[in-house]
Amino acid sequence: MNELNHIDKNKIISRQGGSLTGSLIIPGDKSISHRALILASLSIGETEISGLLEGEDVFRTADALRDLGVIIVRGSNAKWKVNGVGIGGLSNSEGVIDLGNSGTSARLLTGILAGYGFQSILTGDSSLITRPMDRVINPLRQMGATFHSNNEKLPLTIIGSDNLMPLNYDLPVASAQVKSAILLAGLHAPGETSIIEPTITRDHTERMLKYFGADIQLEDKKNGRLIKVRGQPELKPSPILVPSDPSSAAFPTVAATLVPDSEVIMPRVCINPTRMGFYTTLSEMGASIRWINKRTESGEPIADLIVKSSRLNCIEVPADRAPLMIDEFPVLAMAAACAKGKTVFNGIGELRHKESDRLSAIAEGLKNSGVKVEESEEELIIYGDHVPPEGGSRIFSSLDHRIAMSFLVLGLVSEQPISIDDGRTIETSFPNFVGLMRSIGANIITDA
Ligand code: S3P
Repeated sequence: MNELNHIDKNKIISRQGGSLTGSLIIPGDKSISHRALILASLSIGETEISGLLEGEDVFRTADALRDLGVIIVRGSNAKWKVNGVGIGGLSNSEGVIDLGNSGTSARLLTGILAGYGFQSILTGDSSLITRPMDRVINPLRQMGATFHSNNEKLPLTIIGSDNLMPLNYDLPVASAQVKSAILLAGLHAPGETSIIEPTITRDHTERMLKYFGADIQLEDKKNGRLIKVRGQPELKPSPILVPSDPSSAAFPTVAATLVPDSEVIMPRVCINPTRMGFYTTLSEMGASIRWINKRTESGEPIADLIVKSSRLNCIEVPADRAPLMIDEFPVLAMAAACAKGKTVFNGIGELRHKESDRLSAIAEGLKNSGVKVEESEEELIIYGDHVPPEGGSRIFSSLDHRIAMSFLVLGLVSEQPISIDDGRTIETSFPNFVGLMRSIGANIITDA
């Protein structure tokens, strides 16, 4: 096998080359993959999952569920089979559950484990143990679970309750992970748990709960969206086809937009409206983005994406759009650096709590690549020039996959190559990123 098909060396370099053309099968959606494994485990019987993201983060969720007594196997043709144990059917894990780099695993599993009257200990890598857990611990405490930790961060000891109480909760932070943790805990409590979400965030948990037959209701109110779930349902297994991840497709989308004479097709990408903020914004900046063959699979809307190169103008991204594109700001920043004029990202303080402090990581990396940037607590301003930035930078990816991939995209157009110190982190969400990008003509190499 050509060793460049896999990121098996740490350093990765990207530089200018020819146009990007062809078709790309983007790996499965990360958020949907976590939820597919989790809800399949909580249903009674066997669920078959196709298109699961086979990335490190999702493997952590699978391993954690195995530790908790669920049988999960990868069958032929990458079809995963999960033997669900039903709500209340998980068993005590023998050791500490290590969730690596995965914030989604940590938050969602904390919600589930709150509903079991045994002790569990969750930990993670040097990035995950710095990320806030109080946002999930606080509501789960109100439901009756007990937590011990240093600063409300991982490592976290959870002593759940077999008699969890339902909760009515106003989400103080726009976070799909927090919302999902409460909904998953609510499945283990009798009666109805309800959440008010002032700003809408990704709704894959709600959609998949419905798909598995749970009693879940959504209502748009003056103060936000009301989500109600009835506890202790019997979830029924249904086969799941995981669509391609729009957050991963964002990297080739920006690359094909910026590299002249490119045209890239990406089939079966998830077009759930709660994930479309980036595509709306890039289109408003002047990108050529087309969605064809719109259809629905396993409760999620999907379509085939066609991107052609185009020149971009600056934009001001409104704060209320941020939750709909929260993971795409790093790569959108690369597009802004090549657009004409001053781009403003408002209300993006949440980026400081991701796999790294992404606001600072974007600002520093762009400055080192010759781009003028202004950073404040909640805002980023990028001055684009309509010509490729200087580049020539060495980016420290700080265990952050999206920072690594974003700067590799910028390196495809910058005057000088851009290198990433350690590309292994990319495996968390986008396995074989380098191989796939090379297959459409990207000049990216591992430093073998
Ligand atoms: C995710 C929600 C988002 C996102 C993360 C995945 C999910 O986090 O950044 O990559 O699957 O629920 P927050 O909910 O903390 O914003």
